[in-house]
Amino acid sequence: MKSKVWVTSLLIGTVIIGGCSASNSESNKNETMDHSNMTEEEVANMDHSNMSEEVMMEMENGHASHTNPVALNDSTGENEIALPPLLEPDKENGIVYDVAAQKGTTEIFKGVQTETYGYNGSFLGPVIRINEGDTVKFRTKNNLTEATTFHWHGLDVPGVGDGGPHQLLQPGETKEVEFTVNQQASTLWFHPHPEGATAEQVYKGLAGLIYVEDENSKNLGLPNEYGANDFPLVFQDRQFNEDKQFDYKAVSNEDGTIGDTMLVNGTLNPKLTVGKEKVRLRLLNGSNARNYTFKLNTGDSFQQIATDGGFLNKPTEISEITLTPGERAEIIVDFSNLDASSDLALVNEDDTILLPFKIDEQKANSIKIQETLNDYVVTEEEKSLPVTKELELFGMGKMVYINDKQFDMNRIDFTQKQGETEIWEIYNKPDMMGGMTHPFHIHGTQFKIVSIDGKEPPVSLQGWKDTVAIEAGQTVKLAVKFNNKGIYMFHCHVLEHEENGMMGQVEVL
Ligand code: C2O
Ligand code: CU
Repeated sequence: MKSKVWVTSLLIGTVIIGGCSASNSESNKNETMDHSNMTEEEVANMDHSNMSEEVMMEMENGHASHTNPVALNDSTGENEIALPPLLEPDKENGIVYDVAAQKGTTEIFKGVQTETYGYNGSFLGPVIRINEGDTVKFRTKNNLTEATTFHWHGLDVPGVGDGGPHQLLQPGETKEVEFTVNQQASTLWFHPHPEGATAEQVYKGLAGLIYVEDENSKNLGLPNEYGANDFPLVFQDRQFNEDKQFDYKAVSNEDGTIGDTMLVNGTLNPKLTVGKEKVRLRLLNGSNARNYTFKLNTGDSFQQIATDGGFLNKPTEISEITLTPGERAEIIVDFSNLDASSDLALVNEDDTILLPFKIDEQKANSIKIQETLNDYVVTEEEKSLPVTKELELFGMGKMVYINDKQFDMNRIDFTQKQGETEIWEIYNKPDMMGGMTHPFHIHGTQFKIVSIDGKEPPVSLQGWKDTVAIEAGQTVKLAVKFNNKGIYMFHCHVLEHEENGMMGQVEVL
């Protein structure tokens, strides 16, 4: 039987190239992808009826190209980590932040200048701190020699100011975005979003942070001394060429560009010096494609206090947390009982050392973390709302689709009414290789995860989110409400998938 032969060769193929998907996302979330244990029947039952030959070819090519995934190097800890500067607003006329995208060179490796991009500096960007209730203005300027946009990831902002691919700034152009901060305390970020160049511009260094503060965050007594007990940590893996330059075109991969070199806040081989105290770490996976599962090398637990868009209701004891590209989490690590001789480090799933800690015994502080941080709830009403938007993520490499379509700037995929909650159901349809995890992101809002495969999400995801990791085969229901009008993107945050068209548009009316 023809189909039988096909299935058999498929199985052989899987054995040969099966290392790929798991490696690509390096996460224990992807156990579902290993098909070597699947029965023929299971494989045969997988739906590939409408898979084009092109997709199948692409899958084979794509897989072949990363059969040997790039492993990350351990951080030697020889460099104290860089801290992004806090951006001071111009207060002459309201609260105005100037943000310019520019080129520069940065000494990442000792004695070598690497050509980089940055906001208001040569590499990466500052932290913009804004307060709920304030009306603020971002005055943006493109000092690059190519077009870019300024996208505020996670910010509840009118569509015209969101910085999606429609809002291109040509070299030398400026644009002002004014809005009233209308969301709770959280760690957001900003990066470019021009069609066709997002992945490369982020790769070269365009990424900064936004901290939203509110009355709650100011009164909780959490560690909040910037650079003393409250640190932003932006994790990005990169592949340098022989000249220690970023050569995006040479290393880019259609299924997500990864590299062997970890930069945290742009620092190579970083370490972080902390006091004997509880320290707040704001983790951002700012990588194009790599997932991280953060753990302590001792296996000790820590507390998670926030998701992408706000605090969890309670500090939650966990021993690891996975972040896919675009996602954030805030954690509290307690160093009070450690001393200078201890060698604690933040490590990845496979124990790669990402960030060793050095303890400064002179510095101590006793902070008690409150029991109640927030009042997040998925209401019964939200749980009982019918699904009104269905999305199916499918494909890999260049052949990535949402509802069988690729991004078209001139096509609005959905409309939604301002202020109305709708249930979006997103299904990550497996392919014959199993498929991969897609970090699904919606612009201009923070949503609630109602369920994952029909079940309540884990405590780590019971908070406001703007990006959610959806594993192959999973169905996730989100309660989505937009407070502003305009056109917003939704897409996979593997930047090369977004670039290849795994993106759509919702217009809020
Ligand atoms: Cu962080 Cu559309 O992106
Ligand atoms: Cu994807």
